[in-house]
Amino acid sequence: MKLAFIGIGNVGFAIANQLQKKGYDIIVANNNENSATVKKALEENPNFSVKNIQQAIDEAGIVFLATPFNANKEILQALNLNGKILVDCTNPVGMGIVHGLKSEVSGSEKVQEWAPDAKVVKAYTIYGFENFISSDYPDYNVKPVMMIAGNDAQAKSAVAKINTDMGFDTLDTGKLDQALHLEHMTLLWVKMVRRDGHHPNLVWAKLEK
Ligand SMILES: NC(=O)c1ccc[n+]([C@@H]2O[C@H](COP(=O)([O-])OP(=O)(O)OC[C@H]3O[C@@H](n4cnc5c(N)ncnc54)[C@H](OP(=O)(O)O)[C@@H]3O)[C@@H](O)[C@H]2O)c1
Repeated sequence: MKLAFIGIGNVGFAIANQLQKKGYDIIVANNNENSATVKKALEENPNFSVKNIQQAIDEAGIVFLATPFNANKEILQALNLNGKILVDCTNPVGMGIVHGLKSEVSGSEKVQEWAPDAKVVKAYTIYGFENFISSDYPDYNVKPVMMIAGNDAQAKSAVAKINTDMGFDTLDTGKLDQALHLEHMTLLWVKMVRRDGHHPNLVWAKLEK
């Protein structure tokens, strides 16, 4: 399957690189030929191809959005997602590690508003990118959990398959309005790790009776 990545920095590259090694075709979606992150990504993995963003979306089965949240409105309103699955990896984080939309609405619901013809699934936001480089925890007999949210059941199933290939157990938290709570989990993780010194490979697991 072909996957398009809008944003190939810390998060985009970590996910794309793992999935390319699992056999997915990766298309880096960028309209800027001089993009520093695109050049670096191609140096590190020459198996990626690069296309302009709309062309990449048109070719891909699933599109990942891994850009600064503040860039999303302008990026998405210029595109036609044509019913594609859009994996929203972005987080609205404000100064002082607070919710960037004042906890009134999730960033993913704004992404859905800006890309109304996409099937938006929130995923790959609750941990730092270090855990997308490798999700291998050999000392434990459970896998790390990837919590997702979205309104379309088939889209969530497709993302769950990707999660499996990435080494994660999936926990479907519900509809896209649950993304607000996932974004608060992000703030929890960021404060614990980036501010307070917990190890970056701190992840959660799902235990359910
Ligand atoms: N860092 C983490 O640990 C982490 C973990 C989970 C989620 N997140 C979220 O994931 C998102 C990306 O974070 P990151 O750390 O990967 O950022 P990053 O390393 O700065 O990468 C950002 C990427 O977005 C691209 N980009 C920026 N503006 C663009 C535009 N207008 N059009 C197209 N592409 C554009 C950049 O390309 P250029 O080089 O061309 O500018 C770059 O490839 C953020 O929303 C962040 O909150 C981060």
